[in-house]
Amino acid sequence: MPGDKSITHRALIFSALTTGKSRITGALGALDCLSTVSCLRRLGLIIEPAASDTGWRKINTSGRLDLVVKSKGPKNLDFKESTKSGPLLLDAGNSGTTMRIMSGLLAGLPGNFALSGDDSLSKRDMRRVLDPLTKMGASVTYRRSEGRAPFIVGGGELKGGDFELPMASAQVETALLVAGLLARGKTTVKTPARVRDHTLKAFLHLGIPFHNEGLTTSVEPLDKDIEAKDFTVPGDISSAAFFLVAAAIMPGSSIVIPAVGTNSGRGLVVDVLRRMGVSISYRNERLVNFEPVCDIEVTAPAELTATDIGESEVPLGIDELPVLALAFALARGRSKVSGAAELKEKESNRLTAICKNLANQGVKVEELADGFIIEGSGTLSGGGSWQTEGDHRLAMTGLIAQLVAVKPLQLGDVSCVDISYPGFEADLSALVSS
Ligand code: S3P
Repeated sequence: MPGDKSITHRALIFSALTTGKSRITGALGALDCLSTVSCLRRLGLIIEPAASDTGWRKINTSGRLDLVVKSKGPKNLDFKESTKSGPLLLDAGNSGTTMRIMSGLLAGLPGNFALSGDDSLSKRDMRRVLDPLTKMGASVTYRRSEGRAPFIVGGGELKGGDFELPMASAQVETALLVAGLLARGKTTVKTPARVRDHTLKAFLHLGIPFHNEGLTTSVEPLDKDIEAKDFTVPGDISSAAFFLVAAAIMPGSSIVIPAVGTNSGRGLVVDVLRRMGVSISYRNERLVNFEPVCDIEVTAPAELTATDIGESEVPLGIDELPVLALAFALARGRSKVSGAAELKEKESNRLTAICKNLANQGVKVEELADGFIIEGSGTLSGGGSWQTEGDHRLAMTGLIAQLVAVKPLQLGDVSCVDISYPGFEADLSALVSS
């Protein structure tokens, strides 16, 4: 699998908090993480492919990249003078994780920074991260529309704060903890439900002190230099999810996916498929930089059973809900997802898109305010259109749906798979023909 997207973003962004040279092995070389690379380079970090012969060329083939990062440490990231006459421009492309976590970093740095993104990112809510950062002392000016990119962050004068997040967002939690490391005084962040804890695992690995109890994490300002450390990035369970579902919906399939990260904060897809009758076993379990990693073996059942997903589970696999919805459509029985209104806030309105796409395939589906109900019939018979909305996860779900659809799907533009998984179509066709 390509490297884990969440962990790659963190390994890159947290290197700005450290001093020295590090190597990130197996980083995700997809467009989202390259947006993070380009923002950090604008801040003066040196980020290069580890071997120039395999270089950036590899990006569009395997999505795995070894990078060398050189950072002079946060104290040397002072842009107060250089941005007096105008902000430093940073482009986060399609990547919400880049924009939100970078905002936390930038709020802690002296200077003015203008963040922009593509059309999809410019429609997404940034208040969730910028409001608490403003409370910590950052100045924020929206350039076009309140609460959305493009915006300018003025940073460097932060005080700590105590935050109870209204949404279970690992991105927001991470942004505030990063800001807290660069602020004066203590910062505490509480999430309303469990979220992926890659940030805490990366802090442990890097030796960045924090205190965590249940849903609450606090940090004190960094009072010493943190030495840069190498990272090894596991395979992305969110990318593996497409193959797990592909195997699950094609009776007779059995595949092994090596070296995938199985952080329990990302455990929904495996839990749900197991409830649906799919046999999934973890082999060769180990820890890599505090992250659990294993080889996942998946075997299709004769028939998939319907199941429900409730609110507390959703943050453990929100990105996998589009492809799980496909599995529900191919199961027998009624599956219900609730507490997933956040699906509307992703790269597209995934809630509506999932329902429309499945309905076009002849599936009985009801869209709810915070989820959906799918009456699985064990088949996709419509042969209608499958809109991708320029959203990588919808496109990859469509490519998996195509494997079992009775009539060919009319699939929209799939070039957006490069956002998280360059080479997905080639890997899928190699697997299917093997
Ligand atoms: C991510 C967290 C999730 C997820 C996103 C990546 C992260 O978003 O949907 O793709 O790396 O922290 P939220 O935390 O905002 O729900």
